[in-house]
Amino acid sequence: MSDKLPIQDKPYDGIQEDNNPLPGWWKTILYACTVFAIAYMVVVHTDFLVHSRSDMQRFEHEIAAMRFRQDSIRALKPPFTYAELTKLRTEQGRLSEGKGLFTDKCVACHAAGGAGNIGPNLTDNFWLHGGRIDSVALTILNGVSAKGMPTWGNMLSDEQIKSLAIYVKSLHGTNPANAKPAQGVLDTL
Ligand code: HEC
Repeated sequence: MSDKLPIQDKPYDGIQEDNNPLPGWWKTILYACTVFAIAYMVVVHTDFLVHSRSDMQRFEHEIAAMRFRQDSIRALKPPFTYAELTKLRTEQGRLSEGKGLFTDKCVACHAAGGAGNIGPNLTDNFWLHGGRIDSVALTILNGVSAKGMPTWGNMLSDEQIKSLAIYVKSLHGTNPANAKPAQGVLDTL
């Protein structure tokens, strides 16, 4: 080592060493990086300073917002109208297609003939989400995810949803055995 460097005061094991500390500017960068890394980790993982929400909470919030947007877009632009559904009610084959689908997909929760089980009774005058045929079709299309009614629009075609709504409306007033008590509000449209 260079002669110009100072010698350490205390020799270790009889060996003299150069006192050659890291330059101040280098150490300053190291310490600054360390402090920054710790602060960065805290901020990124807890979102501490920004929204006081963690990454996971922010992710869930964004997913919920996206679902909501998707639902509202669908709800605004349903692939049917009241007039169309009313007309289709008399179309050949609609009722039987609806009944077949209902037996296949819906009886687990709404019971045979729509008497109601986990899901509400679909034969009475009371509806949670509206009883007019286009409201019924819209509920089937969008589902009520929070309450356990699946979003059938993701699984069935628009035509199948129309047939289901037609079948559901045909159940009105059938008074099936073991019908679930009425839920929702009176809607006889
Ligand atoms: C996994 C259970 C489940 C299945 C399967 C299911 N539903 Fe539902 N359904 C529900 C529940 C629960 C509700 C009540 C939602 C609420 O409380 O807002 C509901 C509500 C409804 C409503 C609205 C009733 C009202 O009072 O406004 C209609 C219409 C309906 N379902 C039709 C169907 C059809 C048609 C199918 C088959 C394609 C089906 N459901 C399959 C659970 C189910």
